[in-house]
Amino acid sequence: MNLNQDSSSLHHVEEIVKAAAAGTELTRQLLAFGRKDPIQMRPVDLNRAVRNMQKMLRRLLRENITIELFLADAVHPIHADINQIEQVVMNLCVNAGDAMPEGGTLTILTRNIDGETAMDMPEAGVSKQMVCLSVRDTGCGMDEETRKRIFEPFFTNKQKGKGTGLGLSTVYGIVRQHGGWIDVHSTPGAGSQFDVYFPKSELPIEGEMPRAEKQPQGSKPVGGKVLVVEDNPSIRSIVCDVLRRNGYSVREASDGLNALQVLSEWGQPIDLLVTDMVMPAMGGKSLAIKLQRQMPKLKVLFMSGYTEERLPAMGKIQPGEAFILKPFPVERFLSAVRGLMQEEAGR
Ligand SMILES: Nc1ncnc2c1ncn2[C@@H]1O[C@H](COP(=O)(O)OP(=O)(O)OP(=O)(O)O)[C@@H](O)[C@H]1O
Ligand SMILES: [Mg+2]
Repeated sequence: MNLNQDSSSLHHVEEIVKAAAAGTELTRQLLAFGRKDPIQMRPVDLNRAVRNMQKMLRRLLRENITIELFLADAVHPIHADINQIEQVVMNLCVNAGDAMPEGGTLTILTRNIDGETAMDMPEAGVSKQMVCLSVRDTGCGMDEETRKRIFEPFFTNKQKGKGTGLGLSTVYGIVRQHGGWIDVHSTPGAGSQFDVYFPKSELPIEGEMPRAEKQPQGSKPVGGKVLVVEDNPSIRSIVCDVLRRNGYSVREASDGLNALQVLSEWGQPIDLLVTDMVMPAMGGKSLAIKLQRQMPKLKVLFMSGYTEERLPAMGKIQPGEAFILKPFPVERFLSAVRGLMQEEAGR
């Protein structure tokens, strides 16, 4: 998890530091946050991830709990860090197990949410296609008062030493970082269901990409050096992935200041700057102006969630620059990149 860029994870870390000082038991979450391997966002097959966890879950949950999987066929890939996805599934299943001390059934379901259904979803602006992962139990359930508080760090109904109350706040942080959200349904005495929605990945699972898609018709890979500057880690990693798969050599930065640092470490002039407009430390436009002074042939592709005319301090789009509104389909992004790269350096 990139702690510099995600204030919600930073918040978690602060909470964890506080809790550690208070001597609370924090093994699982601490392990997760202390993990050495960096976050790797890739297209992930949720069904495969769940199946791979089945044995581990069987060992983890008591024998009086039946585990059922209902995994829909052809579930879309999601853009995710597999370790974090496992952590989400694990936390939800452990909670489900805890909610069924007398035994019961734990069900894990996956399904695609497409088209109209997706449009009705509360945050459907993000993506029209999503995947839903549900974890259902036949346990004690919870009342409305509890349900409202379950994502708060340190909220727990478990006995002292049994729960830290960090499980679901961690789950929430991870899901938000993946651009998704969570719905909870529960009936006291009957059970609970956690529905976790993830946006569909624009990229197929690795190793399954059809040959034809690798090189869209009529466009030869042009190559070139690209710096991607974007403060949202999920978007940044999708954009970098797409560029790399299309033959560009790519470096990434989280904001304008970080970009200058990354560039000086790279030590080579770049051909294209792909940058978000609004970022915490030095926005896209200031960065572009600064870099174009050093590299007059530099092409710039601005990405923003604001419409072009509403952008503050956007100024006029110059030759050699282009603008793309987020969210955008990968193909439109790539054709903007190709267009800029093939443009004569007319300035
Ligand atoms: N499936 C569930 N059924 C009933 N209550 C649940 C369920 N999942 C969570 N809860 C309630 O939400 C609370 C918070 O869950 P959370 O996972 O954040 O912490 P915890 O399980 O108490 O502790 P930890 O996960 O850190 O071991 C739980 O204590 C429990 O009251
Ligand atoms: Mg828990």
